Amino acid sequence: MFLGIDLGTSGIRVLLVNAEGRAITSAEVATKVSHPHLGWSEQDPSTWVAALEKAVAKLKSSTSAFAQVKGIGVSGQMHGATLLDSRDQVIRPCILWNDTRSHVEAAELESAANFRDISGNIVFPGFTAPKLEWLRKNEPNNYSRIAKVLLPAAFLNFYLTRDHVADMSDSSGTSWLDTRKRAWSLDLLAAGNMREDQMPRLVEGSEPAGKLCSELSQKWGLSGDVIIAGGAGDNAAAACGTGVLAEGQGFVSLGTSGVVLAARDEYRPNADSAVHTFCHAIPNCWYQMGVMLSATDSINWLSSITGKTPRQLTKPLGDTLQAAGRIRFLPYLSGERTPYNDAAIRGAFMGLGSETSTEDMTRAVLEGVAFGLRDSAEAVKATGAKLEHMLAIGGGTASRYWVKLLATVLGTPLYLPKSSEFGAALGAARLAICATTGVAARDIMSSPATFDCVAPEASLIETYDQAYVAFRASYPRIKDIQ
Ligand code: XUL
Repeated sequence: MFLGIDLGTSGIRVLLVNAEGRAITSAEVATKVSHPHLGWSEQDPSTWVAALEKAVAKLKSSTSAFAQVKGIGVSGQMHGATLLDSRDQVIRPCILWNDTRSHVEAAELESAANFRDISGNIVFPGFTAPKLEWLRKNEPNNYSRIAKVLLPAAFLNFYLTRDHVADMSDSSGTSWLDTRKRAWSLDLLAAGNMREDQMPRLVEGSEPAGKLCSELSQKWGLSGDVIIAGGAGDNAAAACGTGVLAEGQGFVSLGTSGVVLAARDEYRPNADSAVHTFCHAIPNCWYQMGVMLSATDSINWLSSITGKTPRQLTKPLGDTLQAAGRIRFLPYLSGERTPYNDAAIRGAFMGLGSETSTEDMTRAVLEGVAFGLRDSAEAVKATGAKLEHMLAIGGGTASRYWVKLLATVLGTPLYLPKSSEFGAALGAARLAICATTGVAARDIMSSPATFDCVAPEASLIETYDQAYVAFRASYPRIKDIQ
């Protein structure tokens, strides 16, 4: 048996799978985010540990098979800075990926060294290095005590193994990694006022990172050596869970944030386009993705101000795609990463009339998010990635209308997995299988066995292409007046 742990922003999920990677059972425990100031987003790592213990207890009580666990893999929300002192005590709450307090420091770092060339990415305000610069300036006492900086998944690796060890895919989102060489960059660390001894040891996600410490092994009722895999950042883990490993394979994720991801056999960064280029969780592979910050978050926002659930909003649209509407929605509720790297931009509705209905506004929101994802897809394609076989995953895919719209806007069929297990927790469990048994990633990380295929609506591709051009032209205008 193998255990996949997915440490998300809103909760932790644990999934037990057998040696073939088939799901046996899972458990979830919710976690909270605190926002002490506008734009701040923090979680206390002790709440992750408490949630993990609770989830494991639930799993143990639901199946005796838990006692046979031989390997564990962790997937984590990326970029967060968990700080440990020299006695391995947590110094302050973890500053999360969606915290925007360090946007000034992000821009400063970009002019301090060649971050874009070496890390392959823009230093986004959400990445780890600018958070440490913010701490250096604003919390010097805490800063001076930092012995190790761990990403959320690496913190759970530490909890499990008592060792400081991280995988390459997650570490790519720190701005300190030489993403081509898959090693810490001494130049980037120095430019960020950090030292290599403050970083965890690096391993590939599918390699063993260590063994479960004896204390937890006893507590959880496990026997023999339990191998902990390197693990992965959540998007790389989702790629492992959906079998997105090779050129031509990718997924589009309609989650809180939206992602268009493509697996790459080679390192082909294009930082200036705000596309993300990260190591994959398996050796000699990379992946590229465009990230939009408010995907289902946009429909959740409309839901909160109309008092209707997202389902109540989207259901009246039916399943038959209509031509692009006249109202335009710019989905920049929390700023945007790809293609603008603009933390300050905010959203807009354009073209409202006294006759505009909630249904019109709903369509506009779905369309705005689809156009935003096309921006990401164009940025990914510009690196030479081919988006030939694209899965659609994430909560937003519950709306058939939205998936049809997205397929039409992207001009590509989208495959909807039918089996319920294909996400980051499965990816983490698959990494555990690789690390424990030595099986090759490609032999265990298959695509979901069954899926529906949603084809673009050929007769509407042209009108959506035109609407996309108008959407692209709206950003500079909105930028001008904000
Ligand atoms: C990726 C990113 C998000 C977080 C959220 O760059 O910021 O996907 O990992 O979980």
